[in-house]
Amino acid sequence: MLKRLMPPLAVLLMGLFLIAATPHQGWLESYWAKPVATGGSEPHDWSDLERDMAPEACAQCHAAQFNAWQESQHSLAYSPGLIGQFPHLGLSASNGCLKCHAPLAEQRLPDMPQLHASLAAKLKQPLGFDREYDMDAPRLPLRHAGVTCAACHVRGWQRFGPPQRDTGRTGPVAGAAHGGFTGSKKFSSSQFCASCHQFPQTYAINGKPMENTLVEWQQSRFAAEGVQCQTCHMPDRKHAFKGIHDAGMVRKGLTFKPVLKGNTASLTITSTWIGHAFPTYVTPKVTVSMLALDRQGGVLEQKAWSIERRVAYSNGWQELSDTRLLPGESRVFTFEHLPQRAASVRFSVDVVPDHFYKGVYQGLLADSQQSDAKQLIERALQQADRNDYQLYLYDEERKANEAH
Ligand code: HEC
Ligand code: HEC
Ligand code: HEC
Ligand code: HEC
Ligand code: HEC
Repeated sequence: MLKRLMPPLAVLLMGLFLIAATPHQGWLESYWAKPVATGGSEPHDWSDLERDMAPEACAQCHAAQFNAWQESQHSLAYSPGLIGQFPHLGLSASNGCLKCHAPLAEQRLPDMPQLHASLAAKLKQPLGFDREYDMDAPRLPLRHAGVTCAACHVRGWQRFGPPQRDTGRTGPVAGAAHGGFTGSKKFSSSQFCASCHQFPQTYAINGKPMENTLVEWQQSRFAAEGVQCQTCHMPDRKHAFKGIHDAGMVRKGLTFKPVLKGNTASLTITSTWIGHAFPTYVTPKVTVSMLALDRQGGVLEQKAWSIERRVAYSNGWQELSDTRLLPGESRVFTFEHLPQRAASVRFSVDVVPDHFYKGVYQGLLADSQQSDAKQLIERALQQADRNDYQLYLYDEERKANEAH
């Protein structure tokens, strides 16, 4: 019972972590002081379009970034699974969540009526964003845009970005809109992503915080070779931010070597192009399985292993196990003593990207809840189920002289 109620609290703690993590020295730390300030006195010589913080407004001039971003998890961060937990969390904890999910000052929830209005609006929201959106039509409040363009690029009206593409210029750069921009190399470094993808060490469970992506990267060969988060997640500065929810991305990061010899089947999985543990969070679950099949395809015997970091709450957070693959690591999964009658072996790897969250949602649905929130959580659970996929499937026949 305790366990079932605890996962939402886990996520609550994440909100609190950030409060402790922000005040530090350095350009990036002040850039990422939260909530993120875009405002200040309005530049009166700007057009309405330049003043508009909605991603659809940026899209009018930055179509390529918008098109990629709207397909990314960042655009979905103000999600049913997040806001469906808000009534249960209350206003202050909900704003704690927004530090990563919708971090702009304008995106904060001012009061409980706004919080409830947000749930109702989300239930009616047409899906996604549209570049062709009528800019004058009424729009949802900016918080619905999640981790939006301005969260990463705007401070006090000013645009910040990487060094200018063709010239490599940094510092103030003149431009045809929004008073130009300020170029900084910090945009191309892994540290830029840390504010939302790394918890402080003080919250470690068995030595490792629940989000430890930057530290995992720092300990990998990729850091030594200068391969940043952006190199893999924003190749050529593209804004797709693909990760565990994209089978193609995950396949790029791993190699598989199935072997069937005599009475033994083995699958070697190597993490070749992942700059952190596979997977980096406690939320996904990866299952490796091998099925011994008879001539008709019937299952004679099977073995399964999981690749995941499991944590649970009992008397504080405990790590139950950690079988994730570190960068560069190779692991051999072996099925010995195959049944005599086995005619072939099926090797497969399946991914449940939102495994931990499904548990959270099921726990919330089991408790009685206010109806808007309940509908959103039901929607989140359905979406989480749709996110499951098969990463790898390979059948190998046993050689005639080996099967009996
Ligand atoms: C330190 C930054 C941070 C904070 C604070 C934070 N989250 Fe998240 N959250 C993330 C990241 C990063 C992911 C993506 C992880 C993944 O894909 O497994 C995520 C994913 C999620 C998801 C699953 C994806 C989705 O949007 O449906 C839910 C639900 C969620 N968070 C809820 C919360 C709640 C509730 C809070 C506040 C109690 C919170 N988060 C606070 C960073 C944060
Ligand atoms: C009216 C057109 C227009 C609109 C609207 C607009 N921009 Fe720009 N933006 C430009 C131009 C022009 C440049 C200068 C490009 C250059 O000189 O390299 C620029 C440059 C930038 C840069 C710097 C790129 C680099 O090389 O580092 C960023 C970041 C940026 N804009 C973000 C935004 C964001 C975020 C929004 C919405 C809140 C936005 N812009 C809205 C036209 C626009
Ligand atoms: C303002 C906070 C914030 C910053 C900064 C940020 N992210 Fe995220 N990121 C999130 C949140 C929140 C999610 C989860 C969104 C969701 O699904 O609800 C996420 C999701 C992702 C995912 C998708 C994971 C998946 O489950 O498939 C990737 C990849 C990612 N971020 C990479 C990056 C990189 C690379 C950077 C730096 C260039 C970065 N992020 C900067 C908050 C942030
Ligand atoms: C999670 C943070 C994040 C979000 C959200 C985000 N960007 Fe970026 N953007 C970056 C980073 C980091 C770079 C630089 C990447 C690099 O140096 O490899 C960048 C680069 C750019 C550039 C320069 C591109 C070039 O080719 O020179 C523009 C323009 C830009 N972003 C606009 C946008 C717009 C418009 C949106 C919203 C549709 C957006 N960004 C959303 C982090 C973000
Ligand atoms: C060498 C390429 C590479 C580098 C460097 C890299 N990643 Fe990844 N990342 C991947 C691949 C491939 C995946 C998909 C497999 C997986 O989920 O681990 C991924 C997955 C993710 C996910 C999905 C969530 C999860 O549980 O795995 C997030 C979030 C993420 N990366 C963030 C980051 C951040 C932040 C950095 C920098 C500190 C970074 N990545 C550096 C290749 C890379």
